[in-house]
Amino acid sequence: MITEKKVKKEKINEVKITLLAVSRNESLARAYVSAFAAGLDPTLDELADIRCAVSEAVTNCVVHAYKGWENPGKIYINARLYSDRTVTVEVSDRGCGIENIEMAMTPLFTTDKEGERSGMGFSVMKSFTDCVRVTSKPSGGTRVFMSKKFS
Ligand SMILES: Nc1ncnc2c1ncn2[C@@H]1O[C@H](COP(=O)(O)OP(=O)(O)OP(=O)(O)O)[C@@H](O)[C@H]1O
Ligand SMILES: [Mg+2]
Repeated sequence: MITEKKVKKEKINEVKITLLAVSRNESLARAYVSAFAAGLDPTLDELADIRCAVSEAVTNCVVHAYKGWENPGKIYINARLYSDRTVTVEVSDRGCGIENIEMAMTPLFTTDKEGERSGMGFSVMKSFTDCVRVTSKPSGGTRVFMSKKFS
């Protein structure tokens, strides 16, 4: 009798970084996660997808999470690589949180009143990764989990 052996997905690498929620750290976070994900030897397009998704999540922490705060808060990034060629990235903050996640994730929805935002950040994250999960607590912060399996 042939028994099917389930292949276990193993974590092969992990990195955690904490950054100040200022706009100059958007490109730093993007470059950092991209260099880390390159460890799975993805295509340039796949790497560009991760960069875009991370960029949107980090920008949201800079622009929305700590809006009105006297001093900028922090952005926590936790990235992992798995043996099945999956990369996962969690971007969290301890800022204002999101009251209605479903509404926030609707394309074109934005709370920006200055007309600088298009409300497409979450849509970009969704289209460039395989899975986006958002958890948030008003006044407690937001956590965005994304995962993508490379070819
Ligand atoms: N980390 C966060 N903390 C608090 N609110 C957030 C956070 N991320 C997103 N939001 C809320 O969700 C809304 C939608 O986010 P999304 O990234 O889709 O659009 P946007 O940031 O408004 O515009 P764009 O990303 O196109 O510049 C935001 O307008 C904001 O109200
Ligand atoms: Mg955004």
